[in-house]
Order: sequence, then structure tokens, then C-alpha cells
Amino acid sequence: MANQDQKETVSHLRPELFDFHGVSMAHYFTDNCDNVDNFQAKPDDILIATYPKAGTTWVSHLLDLLYFGKSSPKRGVSLPIYERVPFLEFSVPALCPTGVEMSDKMTTSPRLIKTHLPVQFVPKSFWEQKCRIVYVARNAKDNVVSYFHFDRMNSLMPEPGDWPNYLQRFQEGKLVFGSWYDHVKGWWEKKQVYPKLLYLHYEDLAEDIDRELDRVCSFLGVCPTEEERRQVKEGVKFDAMKKNSMANYSTMNVMDFKISPFIRKGKVGDWKNHFTVYQNEQFDKEYQKKMMNTTLKFRTEI
Ligand code: A3P
Repeated sequence: MANQDQKETVSHLRPELFDFHGVSMAHYFTDNCDNVDNFQAKPDDILIATYPKAGTTWVSHLLDLLYFGKSSPKRGVSLPIYERVPFLEFSVPALCPTGVEMSDKMTTSPRLIKTHLPVQFVPKSFWEQKCRIVYVARNAKDNVVSYFHFDRMNSLMPEPGDWPNYLQRFQEGKLVFGSWYDHVKGWWEKKQVYPKLLYLHYEDLAEDIDRELDRVCSFLGVCPTEEERRQVKEGVKFDAMKKNSMANYSTMNVMDFKISPFIRKGKVGDWKNHFTVYQNEQFDKEYQKKMMNTTLKFRTEI
């Protein structure tokens, strides 16, 4: 990845948020939009789609180990996650090839590709090729907390400002990749009409990885042996991923781990350490309004 000079070039360039076809974005994720729109998916590509901080890396690492752990046992500890699973719309030429270039160059089959795009921006070739898609959603409160810490430590993201202001902007959809509400609901609606979409929840993965691994395997039509399953489950444990420099982004030097690590707490319910009672009440009111027109449900006990 980038050397020190490159890091400094980028770190002075915290981007501004702007409106991109009705969705708040930062230019690092839209500069290459023509090539993203024209991206040629292959029928066996697997797209991992999420709102940022919903467990993208967790599921990316899991799928990578599931598919390639047996044939390349060292892959998960020798190749960074952003090379094993390119970030489709990422475009920071000072740092690395674009996500489209990296995906185009991939020789593995299937190709695992990550995106944070709202469903309406996904390149049409993924639908035409009837690719399998794994979407991961995380409850709004933990998602916004995780996103806040990420924006603090990542110089490719707009300045987060203070927590109360950040929380307000989350509710207004004024963060990169837009509204969490529109994102999770948009993908949920797509699932109702597109059967090759598996909709996972971070909280379910945290509760029972065995059960969720079964769901993933049956969706993808893969049958790992008991030993392969064991290795996947070991590899995706929070502590293992936190230590693994090929999964924890510590090689990505636009991130300042002194501010916050990328793999931070990995907890369900960490929002309770951040929301005041008043913030929580206001949030709940807004949440009810915004989620009343959907059948999508998140667990209530968190
Ligand atoms: P926290 O900031 O709450 O700790 P993404 O990969 O979409 O950017 O999401 C990052 C979030 O997923 C972080 O949440 C990170 O700690 C959490 N995460 C990553 N790997 C995990 C794992 N193996 N188990 C549980 N949580 C994990």
C-alpha cells in the first residue's frame, strides 16, 4: 500500500460530502463511477454488499476462507483482505489500483467482490449475470457507533465532527453511502424479488456462527468438510481477525490505529456506551417513523 509520502498526500485530503444522485457520497467512491457502471460481472462472482461497518470484513474473510482456505491455506494470512476481496467502487489512485481494476485482474474463481453501494447503484451486469449476493445488515445503533470511530481514524472519510452532530447526520442520511435506512430497506426489498440474495444480520453471526455458516453454505451450494468448517470458524473469530494483519487493515496506512483500531470491539450493544438517554429516546422515535413502512426487522432486545 501507500508509502509515507502518499499517506501524507491523502491525509490532507479528507473529502467533502456531496450529493450523488440523491445519496451522500465522497469522491473516492464516485470518481470511477463510469467504470463501475460498466463493470462486467461473471456469473459465478459473489458480491458482498453492506452499509459501511455492518460486518463486511467479517463476512468477506469468512467467504474467502470458505472458498480458498483449502487450496491456499496461507492466503488468509499472507494477502490483505482488500486484495482478496476488492472494493468495487474504491478509487484512490495515489494508493492502489481501483476496485474495478483489481476485480478485472482477479484470476480466482469465484471472484469475491465487496461493495457499499445502495442497491440502485449496483452495476447492471450483476443482475444480468444472476450473481449471488450476500448482504449483511447491522442494527442501526451499533452501526452508527462503529461508523463514527471509523471516520475518526480513516483520512479517506469526511471529518466526523463530534458525536452528537454525527448521530444527527446519521439520522439525516448525511454520511458516506447515504442513509442507513434507505440502504438496509432498499436491499431488503430487492431480496423479495431477487432470490439469489442472502440477507444476513451481524447480530445473528455473533449469536451463532455455526448456524449462519450453514445458511451461507447452503445458499452458495458449498459443502466444506468438518475440518474445513472448523478452520473457517477459527479464522473468523474476533480475536483471530483482530490479530491477523491480513484481516485487520493494519497494512492500510491511511488509517490511524492510534485513534481507533479497524477491528475495534466487535460487540452487539456497544451503542449503550455512547448514546445518552435523551439521544436514545430521540433516536427511537425517528427510527419508528423511518422503519414503519418495511417488513425488515432487527432484534429489539439490543
Ligand atoms: P466495531 O467497530 O463495533 O468493533 P466492516 O468490516 O463492515 O467495516 O465492519 C467493521 C465492524 O465489524 C467493526 O465493529 C469490527 O470490529 C466488526 N468485526 C470485524 N470482524 C469481526 C468478527 N470476527 N467478529 C465480530 N465483529 C467483527
